[in-house]
Amino acid sequence: MALPREDYRRRFDESSSCPRSTLSFVGRDAELARIAELFDEDVLFLIYGVAGIGKTELAYRALELARTRPGWSRAVPTLIQVQPDMTVPHLLAVLRQRTGADAARPDPLGARSSSLAEELDAVSRALDAQPRLLFLDDVHLIDPAAMTRILGHLARCVRASRVFAASRLEVPLASLGITPVITRLAPLDDRAARDMITHLGRRLGIAVSDVTGILQRAGGSPFFLQREVVSSPADELQTAADRLIATLAALPEPARRLLLHVAVVPGRVSVSELELVAGAASGPLAILARHFFLDAANGAIAIHDLIREAVLRLATPSEIQSARKAAAEVFVRRTDAGGPEAPLAAVEAARQLCAAGDHAASLAFITERYRLISGAGVDHLLRDTLDELRAALPGQATRSICSWRAPWSGAA
Ligand SMILES: Nc1ncnc2c1ncn2[C@@H]1O[C@H](COP(=O)(O)OP(=O)(O)OP(=O)(O)O)[C@@H](O)[C@H]1O
Ligand SMILES: [Mg+2]
Repeated sequence: MALPREDYRRRFDESSSCPRSTLSFVGRDAELARIAELFDEDVLFLIYGVAGIGKTELAYRALELARTRPGWSRAVPTLIQVQPDMTVPHLLAVLRQRTGADAARPDPLGARSSSLAEELDAVSRALDAQPRLLFLDDVHLIDPAAMTRILGHLARCVRASRVFAASRLEVPLASLGITPVITRLAPLDDRAARDMITHLGRRLGIAVSDVTGILQRAGGSPFFLQREVVSSPADELQTAADRLIATLAALPEPARRLLLHVAVVPGRVSVSELELVAGAASGPLAILARHFFLDAANGAIAIHDLIREAVLRLATPSEIQSARKAAAEVFVRRTDAGGPEAPLAAVEAARQLCAAGDHAASLAFITERYRLISGAGVDHLLRDTLDELRAALPGQATRSICSWRAPWSGAA
């Protein structure tokens, strides 16, 4: 019987060699190309992303490709799987042993080097004496300050080997003035996700039905895609999905609330908009950014569908309602700001108010802004909202909606 994935990885961990990437590896071309491009210039490669997004798999693939490069075929792939209960001294001991630093010790039976710097010097020397492709997986399980020092030291001192590390949490190397090559993994794009489904179906010898449904439910997460296609025993599935939910649940309350605010907004929202409706955001945002739950560019924030779904699943209906009210406020402000986006912002504000259960406010808003909305020819986008309002506010809504003679009302 095939080993469950985690056991399989652990087994390899014991032998310290690095497994090959899966035969169904898909996508990630841009990420691999960037790693390849910088491979000769840099020593430290960090792979960041949420649970199940494909960090480990990408590292395996990158290492495999690295060994096909001229001069690297003899580099020894070396995996160190950080375990949840691993202490810093334990990790250092494994590092020394796996890199052969112990063997190079002048007196292997003598007293151990005492300082972290000395231990790391020994590891660096060993990594220069024997070129390795060292992969430290799940380094978020180690104290961040210690991990920063360890990786920082290796980045500065090692030349003949390459060090890859995968983490669900940012390692603050900038504090040491070190700039590693960083790959932040987003969900797979639609094409890669489809390819993955095809590969898995072919290997399992099954015809996958409802590919569109699978794509929607998995949100580009390789872990969820696999789960959708492969029906595995329940205990195998408790891994990434549960860990993602568990990490979200363990967030400090303000961070989780802010994440929910972003989750109910379609598209990007600016930091200043968030602060206007949700209060001070910089502390919670910093926490969320460290976990890669948000994607921030030029002061505008977005959330991946994968995370959005998990956040919404975790929130109570009343939490979602109040987040929607705040989102409505964002879109009311955008409507008032005018410009070409105003009509669509008005539609979204009405939708959010309705979804928040504030039917009267939604209807009043639509009535007030109907000219703007229909003038831009986007009134058909309100169809579902109006249907809901009609049902929620029978007398009042029907009268005002009918009086508009909206384009779809004749056909309805
Ligand atoms: N590009 C890919 N092509 C095919 N399968 C993939 C790809 N990326 C990941 N997978 C599969 O999806 C599952 C989750 O990926 P992986 O274990 O690499 O995620 P991870 O980010 O390391 O998660 P964790 O944080 O829990 O360690 C694995 O079974 C892996 O084989
Ligand atoms: Mg992993």
